[in-house]
Amino acid sequence: MAVRLNNSGICNFITDTELERIEPQVSLAAKMLDEEMGSKSWHNLPQEFDSNELEAILQAAEEIKNRADVFIVIGIGGSSLGAKAAIEWLRSIFYNEKSQLKIYFAGNNLSASYLSNVIACCEDKEVYINIVSKSGETLEPMLAFGIFRNLLEQKYGKIEASKRIFVTTDEEKGTLLRMAKDNGYRRFVIPEDIGGRYSVLTAVGLLPMAVAGIDIRQVMNGARNACLYLSDKKFPENESLIYAAYRNCLNRKGKRIEVLIGLEPDFHSFAEWFKQLFAESEGKDGKGIFPTAGIYSTDLHALGQFIQDSGSLIFETVIDVLNSNVDMCAESECIHNFGLAHSSLSQINKKVLEGALKAHVDAAVPSIVLRIPQVNEFEYGYLIYFFEKACAISALVLGVNPFNEPGVLAYKLKTAKLLQE
Ligand code: PA5
Repeated sequence: MAVRLNNSGICNFITDTELERIEPQVSLAAKMLDEEMGSKSWHNLPQEFDSNELEAILQAAEEIKNRADVFIVIGIGGSSLGAKAAIEWLRSIFYNEKSQLKIYFAGNNLSASYLSNVIACCEDKEVYINIVSKSGETLEPMLAFGIFRNLLEQKYGKIEASKRIFVTTDEEKGTLLRMAKDNGYRRFVIPEDIGGRYSVLTAVGLLPMAVAGIDIRQVMNGARNACLYLSDKKFPENESLIYAAYRNCLNRKGKRIEVLIGLEPDFHSFAEWFKQLFAESEGKDGKGIFPTAGIYSTDLHALGQFIQDSGSLIFETVIDVLNSNVDMCAESECIHNFGLAHSSLSQINKKVLEGALKAHVDAAVPSIVLRIPQVNEFEYGYLIYFFEKACAISALVLGVNPFNEPGVLAYKLKTAKLLQE
């Protein structure tokens, strides 16, 4: 069991009776997910993942690692956040500074300045592209793809360029699929019934991860373990159900903002993935919990003031990693006043977290602590599946459909009209 839930920061805010009352709703949502949505293949994906597909991803990654200096992942939202999160959390936010092969993300904004900087990074370099879009119709990635495809064609000619483009998209529809077929680009399929934000454990996330040297077999192993464990265990032994129950109980008490907290700067993009998963799955019909995030201790000097004095608005969910992969000793003279001689940075970090959570709990800001043993491939896969499942169940308890995003469509229609004018 990779995720353990510590409830000491929550037990004063949710009574046993409240938990008993919500339990049937959570268990029913889990049952719905298992039975009615069992065909939603993200749900069983880790167990059913095709080993040939995994081999094909590893092979493509090997070719890219051997032949490219620059690998550009083009996509937005669910089509890019999970891969970026994995590369930064499992490798480092300094991945590019430390690696021969540089990985850049594009197609996630409409900034000419950003794109021209990525283009500059391609100069005199061997470049490969992976365009990821389920619909194959999204403005930002399609626009960026047009630009980078031109760049490749000018550099290598049309035929050679086509050998350097990998397309990850739907099997049956979309402009991107047509372009891939017309030009003979190599393709990976996003299964029809897996929505963008639930797709990180397909080629969408796995190809960029493998290119970054992440052991994707272990990622899938972790996800498979989560899938088996979290399908098998019933409330209250099942952490994803308990987490969903806590969130909904707190929401009903008016706590409409959840701050996901990590202790490492490398955690930043994971928090972005989390925000997108929960915001698009839950935030509809005037319901839902607004997801935001912070890194401690950095944000104790920024968001911390608001959190401390937020009254009844906020609760925190903390990812507490028990064993750090890297540690160092604090220099004693400079921090003499704190009495920290011989302490390590991770020990100090943990104490600061403990202090902050105590102060927050005293100010009626509850905290749910999710403990994981370590940051590694296995835990990453486990955590991704844990949050996907908890999110879907939370949304069902809330009474909304976790798998659509009508609000996103509304802005797209207005924008399309404006662009046509
Ligand atoms: O979760 C979602 O469905 C969205 O965030 C999509 O991933 C995002 O809008 C990108 O869509 P597409 O992959 O179709 O380009």
